[in-house]
Amino acid sequence: MKNMTFQLDKQRREPLYVQLYRQIKQEITNGRLVYGEQLPSKRKIADYLTLSLNTVETAYGQLLAEGYIESRARKGFFVHFHTEQFFIQNQKTPLSPVTKIERYFRYDLNPHRVDTALFPFSRYKKTVKNSLSAANRHLLCLGEKQGESVLREQIRQYLYASRGVSCSIEQIVLGAGVETCINQLILLFDQRYPGQCLQYAMEQYGYPVVEQLLMLFGKPLLKLPLFNQAFRSEPKIDLQLLVQSAVNILYLTPSHQYPYGNILSVNERHQLLEWAHRQDDRYIIEDDYDSEFRYIGKPIPSLQHLDSSLSTQSKVIYLGSFSKLLMPSLRVTFMVLPLSLLPLYQSTFGLLNNTVPRLTQHILAQFMQSGEFEKHIHKMRTNYRKKMELLCRLLQPYRHVIRYHGEHSGFYLLLDLYQESRSVAQLQMLAEKCGIKLYPVKQHNTDKKYFSFGFGNLEHDELHEAVALLMNAWGYEGEAAA
Ligand SMILES: Cc1ncc(COP(=O)(O)O)c(C=O)c1O
Repeated sequence: MKNMTFQLDKQRREPLYVQLYRQIKQEITNGRLVYGEQLPSKRKIADYLTLSLNTVETAYGQLLAEGYIESRARKGFFVHFHTEQFFIQNQKTPLSPVTKIERYFRYDLNPHRVDTALFPFSRYKKTVKNSLSAANRHLLCLGEKQGESVLREQIRQYLYASRGVSCSIEQIVLGAGVETCINQLILLFDQRYPGQCLQYAMEQYGYPVVEQLLMLFGKPLLKLPLFNQAFRSEPKIDLQLLVQSAVNILYLTPSHQYPYGNILSVNERHQLLEWAHRQDDRYIIEDDYDSEFRYIGKPIPSLQHLDSSLSTQSKVIYLGSFSKLLMPSLRVTFMVLPLSLLPLYQSTFGLLNNTVPRLTQHILAQFMQSGEFEKHIHKMRTNYRKKMELLCRLLQPYRHVIRYHGEHSGFYLLLDLYQESRSVAQLQMLAEKCGIKLYPVKQHNTDKKYFSFGFGNLEHDELHEAVALLMNAWGYEGEAAA
């Protein structure tokens, strides 16, 4: 790379992105990089210095924000600073990068982030290229209303093999995101039970998107408290409250409940199915969004599987998504409707076009057919499992102050700062000061200090650094294993 030598030291406490940012800035201010000169691409620097793309992005982001460089669309990054300017600025007010850097998050511990570095770009690109050809010009026209049959067939096979869901492709409906599917379900239930004020329920910390939709539709919603199974012997979900209420439609994430990462036990599953079958106007929406990423034991069969093995009149609507399996921006979600709801679905929505672009569906179907999808999931499961194991290891010396939950599945750990007297807001502020965006889990009626630590998009060295920074910010000292 053009005359640019950087010496980054992973052993130093100063984060790598700060080191990189400082060194590029120095090259600019001492005139070695001159106004208008192009900087190497982020990818090139990342490869050259064996850094994560995230690290380079943060350093470039900081330089951009401070006006040392500018970004030109489709061209790259260019020096945007005259050396003379530096001397004028320097005499007046010395730059204080530290105070500015605090506004940027070095690590965003969002529990929903996936690992974008391992996306199979070249294989996916090949599928895109193959699909975009004159031979496929029919894809330019509108497709099937419930989604392309080729993709629904791939989903059917995948669901049967990996989640035990048995259905025909007629029962599968594609939608652009969970919101589209839930929207349709709310309207469908209203059609099915006209004039009835249907009541909904979900887990206390259920998916906010679903909660918001139900509120927008003005649906009465009951939040069912979850109990932390690790410390108590109560059930994980308040079934008693459900049974005593007038709920009709229950939305659940039985294979990975937020925030504890619990799995609904077989007993509870049976009780819930029994509850649903007791009345015609009761249904369960099973959101199985990230069940592939389970690291211990056998995968838990879906609730839909259990229901269809017990009864011919299924009461479960199964929801799945490619957001965690591939990428959230794909916006491909699907639902499996019980046969009893199918005629009404088709008469209600029969005229509406599918919300997922036809070409996207076709590409995804080809990607699945080629076996690349399955390979990718295997690779990602191992990848996330290793990150989860590393995070648990890194937190081990802090068990006298932090408990964690949910290590058997998903992309985050729930941290319980059980010895802490400072407030959640104070702890969050301390984390933010050292560049870490944390997500507190709000607890009703308790003073628990819960945070979710998402690691999906962090590399191993970044995990080391993020934990060290966080523990340091909170003033926690590690203890050697007994
Ligand atoms: C509970 C839950 N359901 C579903 C999804 C996926 O939603 P979508 O398919 O709309 O991306 C997510 C994503 O984070 C989720 O947390």
